[in-house]
Amino acid sequence: SKSEAWSALFSEPMSDLVKRYTSSVFFDKRLWQADIQGSLAHAQMLSAQNIIGAQDLASIEQGMAQITSEIEAGSFEWKLDLEDVHLNIEARLTQLVGDAGKRLHTGRSRNDQVATDVRLWLRGEIDLIEGLLGELQLSLVEVAEKNVEVILPGFTHLQVAQPVSFAHHLLAYVEMFKRDAERMLDVRKRVNVLPLGSAALAGTTYPLDRERVAQTLGMEGVSQNSLDGVSDRDFAIEFTAAASLCMVHISRLSEELIIWMSQNFGFVRIADRFTTGSSIMPQKKNPDVPELARGKTGRVVGHLMGLITLMKGQPLAYNKDNQEDKEPLFDTVDTLKDTLRIFAEMIGGQVNPATGAKEGGITVNADNMRAAALKGYATATDLADYLVKKGLPFRDAHETVAHAVKLATQKGVDLTELPLAELQAFNPNIDADVFEALSLEGSLNARNTLGGTAPVQVRAQLAKHRVRLA
Ligand code: ARG
Repeated sequence: SKSEAWSALFSEPMSDLVKRYTSSVFFDKRLWQADIQGSLAHAQMLSAQNIIGAQDLASIEQGMAQITSEIEAGSFEWKLDLEDVHLNIEARLTQLVGDAGKRLHTGRSRNDQVATDVRLWLRGEIDLIEGLLGELQLSLVEVAEKNVEVILPGFTHLQVAQPVSFAHHLLAYVEMFKRDAERMLDVRKRVNVLPLGSAALAGTTYPLDRERVAQTLGMEGVSQNSLDGVSDRDFAIEFTAAASLCMVHISRLSEELIIWMSQNFGFVRIADRFTTGSSIMPQKKNPDVPELARGKTGRVVGHLMGLITLMKGQPLAYNKDNQEDKEPLFDTVDTLKDTLRIFAEMIGGQVNPATGAKEGGITVNADNMRAAALKGYATATDLADYLVKKGLPFRDAHETVAHAVKLATQKGVDLTELPLAELQAFNPNIDADVFEALSLEGSLNARNTLGGTAPVQVRAQLAKHRVRLA
């Protein structure tokens, strides 16, 4: 072990405090699989280029197989003295296979090694996140399919605006998560580029075949400048930015669920297993999961700020500052994955293995939604549109309806509850068919433009999402 100095150059060993301060093994050990994968691709290339012998490669492969089983079995001894995941694995390799282990680092630096590891690891995580985003969208689509005809008030400024289909409302979130998935795929292209071969900063004197290593690792290209390859973490920042946006969408949905669950709305309920009680108020069921998700959004946005600030002001090329990229990145991935998983299940429910059907998703209270949509003159715009179709200019129709709403408010009734004669006093062109136009269903059906809330439009969107998510 390394209780001695780094090398012959050092006159004293590192102090314990500095060791603890500079070591990263207790968090970067999670990169172990990527580290071994990258080392094996590097060693295979070194051998193919006759930089190391075939026997060295065989020893390295055998040693790495042994290390893999030790780590998987939990018997691998991670040492703080060995600073990080890279030095820990390399030291064990050398212990196991001798000189072949010492040859692995030929033409390589920890600088290009760590940049490669983080990219390989993040690529795998992005793929998992893609899957989870698909599941969440599917949950929303499934609930939407059952609620096309369910009407709730749409809000602007959180004031009743116009009635909308609940399915339409949910599909707004499907669009957001669809874009989040697209953004992740776009980030993936720039993550999946190989820095290995940049060595410490300037490239290396050995005849490396970088393209071959990229191919072995399934990477889409190799970095084209060694200084850039080892030092920029823009890919991690970009990923965290995409994750932040996704969490912001989750946070908006959380806020709506929380409002919808309050007794004054009573629009939806989430299953008890996603709520908690109160230690003092026996009647309570609190929406902890959406609240925590809303809170965790701050945490992920904080990581974005942390990473982007970490990069700012770093001169070329690698600086140790970059070791600080890992914890925010890891925590962003963990938080996002857990949140997506829990939301997919909270909204869509869980498959019951006995029946194969999903159970325990959100419960919709259509009556409460409808009652709320009947308050606040949600169809006032429909009356204005009705008058426009009878020949009135829109601005005049708007003014006429304001008078009608004022009268209805004074009488404490809905527009549909004003007798026809009273409506006709505002405009003689109003006929009995106005009541259909003023109904919630009439209002929805009339909004039959692409992307509108008319049930035929919503069903067309649902069909498209089904095909896309299949
Ligand atoms: N643990 C280091 C990191 O995460 C690995 C690279 C160290 N390179 C160096 N020159 N000290 O960035």
